[in-house]
Amino acid sequence: MKISVLKESRSGEKRVALTPNVAAQLIKMGFSVQVESNAGEGAHFSDEAYQQAGASIVSGSEAYKADCLVQINPPSLEQCGHMQKGSTWISQLYHLSNSETVSALAAQGVSAVSLDAIPRISRAQSMDVLSSQANLAGYRAVIEGAGHLDRIFPLLMTAAGTVTPAKVLVFGVGVAGLQAIATAKRLGAVVEATDVRPETKEQVESLGGKFIEVKGVEVGSEGGYAKEASEEYRKAQREAVNKSLAQADLVITTALVPGKKAPLLIDDEQLGLMKQGSVVLDMAAEQGGNTSKTQANQVVDLGNARIVGAVNLPSTLSTNASELFARNIWELLKLIGPKGEIEFNTDDEIVDGCLIVQNGTARK
Ligand code: NAI
Repeated sequence: MKISVLKESRSGEKRVALTPNVAAQLIKMGFSVQVESNAGEGAHFSDEAYQQAGASIVSGSEAYKADCLVQINPPSLEQCGHMQKGSTWISQLYHLSNSETVSALAAQGVSAVSLDAIPRISRAQSMDVLSSQANLAGYRAVIEGAGHLDRIFPLLMTAAGTVTPAKVLVFGVGVAGLQAIATAKRLGAVVEATDVRPETKEQVESLGGKFIEVKGVEVGSEGGYAKEASEEYRKAQREAVNKSLAQADLVITTALVPGKKAPLLIDDEQLGLMKQGSVVLDMAAEQGGNTSKTQANQVVDLGNARIVGAVNLPSTLSTNASELFARNIWELLKLIGPKGEIEFNTDDEIVDGCLIVQNGTARK
């Protein structure tokens, strides 16, 4: 069975879905691999490196002549039109908010696997692109936020005086938030964090951070994910965080609720409390933002604070992000194509969760 690695068409995307190393592993499993010319360029994987791994290089419409197509981002409608009937598409699809793409995939008569729909269960951890990419994004958010600050992170005792450590406040302690806390701690900042899920308190503390508890109101979670917070919770959260917000040098917001617009965590009034020279790095910018002034892919200067609307942070670490993404796909292929032929056993919870279209029929 032939797998084709497509060059990403999303603007600014530097990642690639398969690396030469993983291509070599797939060839060992019995697949043949072809790569669209220059697909790995943005992540520093040359066509020659893929060829040395045993893959062939193709261009233009040749790239769609394969049994299985892999990419990072959802396909455009134009890409759907190029797919061969009976082939399998593997990428992130965000099918709940991309119904037009799902219909186009079904109309084309293909099967489509959505990597972001892989269940968050222990057995699927090695295939979980949401985690592998969010982990890197959490690291990058701190580095990028630090770049916008006019001060350093660690405590510095020098002959010229003592510099106090920076204060970092993290909203949302999922995969990205945990890595942001760990990274900020490693750089010497004093870190506080909050989340609607009370079980994250222990995780924050294990990384050396202080958890800000929102007392008296519960939000709850479903399948490990946060539910939408009530107005009552939002009020209590404001009261709990405002003192820390006014003292923070860098705020990192990561809060998401699956299938919904990102929750508003910092409104105009709260932004007004922030100190001179402070920075908010909003990782939820593409989903609507966690602050009232966030604009995706823009830096908004408010005078006292600066809001950075971060977009596609994993792409800024394209080499590592591609390595982990490719590894996730390899692990998935070990499940659905261990002998170099893809077959879908929908009795398997993982396959059932991520197979969105099967032979031209939308399943979700
Ligand atoms: P996410 O990216 O969906 O959300 C980020 C964080 O924002 C979450 O921790 C969420 O609780 C928090 N949040 C939502 N609304 C908020 C609000 N109003 N105020 C403050 N915080 C708010 O989360 P992510 O990183 O995708 O993790 C979701 C869950 O999946 C977690 O429980 C995590 O442990 C679990 N997980 C399980 C895996 C597995 O077993 N394979 C792998 C990775 C994550």
